[in-house]
Amino acid sequence: MNMPQLGLGTFRLQGQQAIDSVRNGLELGYRHIDTAQIYGNEAEVGQALHDAGVARGEVFVTTKVWTEHLAADRLADSLKESLRKLRVEQVDLALIHWPSPGGAVPLRESMQALLAAREAGLAAAIGVSNFPVALVREAIAAVGAANIATNQVELHPYLQNRELLRFAGDAGIHVTAYMPLAYGKVLDDPIIGAVARRHGATAAQVSLAWLLAKGIAVIPSSTRRENLAGNLQAAGLALSAQDCAAIDALDRGERLVSPDFAPQWD
Ligand SMILES: NC(=O)c1ccc[n+]([C@@H]2O[C@H](COP(=O)([O-])OP(=O)(O)OC[C@H]3O[C@@H](n4cnc5c(N)ncnc54)[C@H](OP(=O)(O)O)[C@@H]3O)[C@@H](O)[C@H]2O)c1
Repeated sequence: MNMPQLGLGTFRLQGQQAIDSVRNGLELGYRHIDTAQIYGNEAEVGQALHDAGVARGEVFVTTKVWTEHLAADRLADSLKESLRKLRVEQVDLALIHWPSPGGAVPLRESMQALLAAREAGLAAAIGVSNFPVALVREAIAAVGAANIATNQVELHPYLQNRELLRFAGDAGIHVTAYMPLAYGKVLDDPIIGAVARRHGATAAQVSLAWLLAKGIAVIPSSTRRENLAGNLQAAGLALSAQDCAAIDALDRGERLVSPDFAPQWD
C-alpha cells in the first residue's frame, strides 16, 4: 500500500467547509484524504478531488464502511455508492469503520465481504478501524494479516495505545492515528510546547512528528488553510530521542471517542 503517512481528515466537515478544506489541502500538497460513509461528505470530497484537477493516481483516498452496511449482502453496494459520490472507480483503502455493534454481523462475514469487494476492484486495499487487539486477532483469522493494510485508531500523546501498537507491530499490521491532535487538546500541553519552542515548530507539528517517527500514519483535520499548511510541515520535523521520550511520558489513557456501541478497549 502506497499510503502517504500524512493525510487529511474530514470528520465533521460538511458542505462547503468540506469542499474548501479538501481543496485547500490538495492545493497545499496533501495527497491522502480520509473520509467515511457516516461523515456525510463523500460527495463534497469527490467534488473537491474533481475540482482540484490532481491526477487520480496521485491522491490516496480512504473511506470507511458504516456499521449498517457490514452484512455480506450490503457491503459491496454501499461501497459502490461511496465510489459514485467520491467520483472514483476505486478507493485506495476501504476500512470497516467500527466492529459491528454487539457483534450483530459476524466479523468473519464482514471481513470476507470486504476482501471480496477488494477482489472485485472496489478498493485497492482494505483494513479496519477501532479494532482492539482481540478483534484484530479475529480479523486476521478471517482474512490473514497480509490482507489488513491498516488499523485506524484513536492515538495521540494522551492515548498511546501501547498494547495495540505492540501487537500490530508483531503482526505486521500498519497503524493509522486518528484524532492525532486529540481534537486540539494536546496543543496546550506544556511539555509539547517546550519541545515545539526548542525546534521553532508548533505544538501540532510536534505531536504529528512524534507519531510519524513511530511509523504511524496521521490524518489531522483543519478548517483553516494556515493550520493545514503548518500540519503538512510536520513531515520535515525530526525530533530527538529525548523529545520523543518526553512525549511518551504524557500517556494518560485519555480516550475521546467511545460511543455506546464501542468494543471493549484494550
Ligand atoms: N475511524 C474513526 O472512527 C475516526 C474517528 C475520529 C476521527 N477520524 C479521522 O481522523 C481525523 C482527525 O481527527 P479529528 O478531526 O477529529 O481531530 P484532530 O485532527 O485531532 O483535531 C482537529 C482539531 O484540531 C484543530 N487543529 C488542527 N490543526 C491545528 C493547528 N495546526 N493548530 C491549532 N489547531 C489545529 C482543528 O481546528 P481548526 O479547524 O480551527 O484548525 C480541529 O478543531 C478526522 O477528521 C477523521 O478523518 C476517524
